[in-house]
Amino acid sequence: MNHSTFTLGDRTVNRIGYGAMQLAGPGVFGPPKDRDAALAVLREAVASGVNHIDTSDFYGPHITNQIIREALHPYKDDLTIVTKVGARRGSDGGWFNASSKAELTQAVHDNLRNLGLDVLEVVNVRAMHGVMGTAEGSIEEPVSAIAELQQQGLIRHIGISNVTPTQVAEARKIVRFVCVQNLYNIAHQHDNAMIDELAQEGIAYVPFFPLGGFSPVQSAVLSNVAQRLGVTPMQLALAWLLRRSPNILLIPGTSSVTHLRENMAVGELELSDEVLAELNTIAG
Ligand SMILES: NC(=O)c1ccc[n+]([C@@H]2O[C@H](COP(=O)([O-])OP(=O)(O)OC[C@H]3O[C@@H](n4cnc5c(N)ncnc54)[C@H](OP(=O)(O)O)[C@@H]3O)[C@@H](O)[C@H]2O)c1
Repeated sequence: MNHSTFTLGDRTVNRIGYGAMQLAGPGVFGPPKDRDAALAVLREAVASGVNHIDTSDFYGPHITNQIIREALHPYKDDLTIVTKVGARRGSDGGWFNASSKAELTQAVHDNLRNLGLDVLEVVNVRAMHGVMGTAEGSIEEPVSAIAELQQQGLIRHIGISNVTPTQVAEARKIVRFVCVQNLYNIAHQHDNAMIDELAQEGIAYVPFFPLGGFSPVQSAVLSNVAQRLGVTPMQLALAWLLRRSPNILLIPGTSSVTHLRENMAVGELELSDEVLAELNTIAG
């Protein structure tokens, strides 16, 4: 593999990681249709060089972490599992705010138990002022609660997720965080300034929905350039992210070994300056 690495907390991770959200059932709720296939995707990911997996105990809920444990425990020394807290699921699969100190403490213990870990390497505090997207509001309480759990030794490093620049600035005053996980992709580049700022500080920026998530990125330019280069539009969207900034870590989600292999192959894809200029027109 020739794609590079980045320091996340005190670990070195390959910039192409894996997001586990697609491993649960439809709507990230309940068990997957094919549990063996989910186990196979995770094992293939690690075998092909993934050493950064993004998850949460609210995927399933619980089920995704249990599948990770079944597939990969005991974990390789260099595997960094990053989880997130701040939400809970309703009985119908709805997503709700669960950011009180008691709920966050419970979530950390749920993650430890279901992943089979004594310490969580990185925990993202998922801001929940907006359940489906960022919204302003203080994140002081949940970030401080997670900082306390870090002091107790349950968490090594803290990240923040679904945050605005104001919330990033607020978190900076409370803790040292090692990553920001926000919605970002070739078609949604609202965090450009934040990415550059974090890069200067050595903080990772981990785009969620790197392929557009539930609404896959679509663009005639992306399709045309991909065809010319002999790759898929999704591969090109990931290659663009790798090229965008050295602090960007990829966590594309897939339930398919074929797609996983396509995503891993992106590390070999070099984009010329001309191609980059063409792709940069996509976000307008
Ligand atoms: N912090 C947050 O609030 C938040 C929110 C959402 C997600 N996340 C994290 O971010 C990760 C990535 O997001 P995501 O999985 O929702 O969205 P994504 O990576 O943008 O896209 C996943 C979708 O793309 C498809 N896909 C993957 N690789 C493909 C390929 N090579 N060709 C064609 N289709 C491909 C997948 O379908 P197949 O299964 O068929 O491959 C799936 O439908 C998640 O796994 C999760 O860990 C965090």
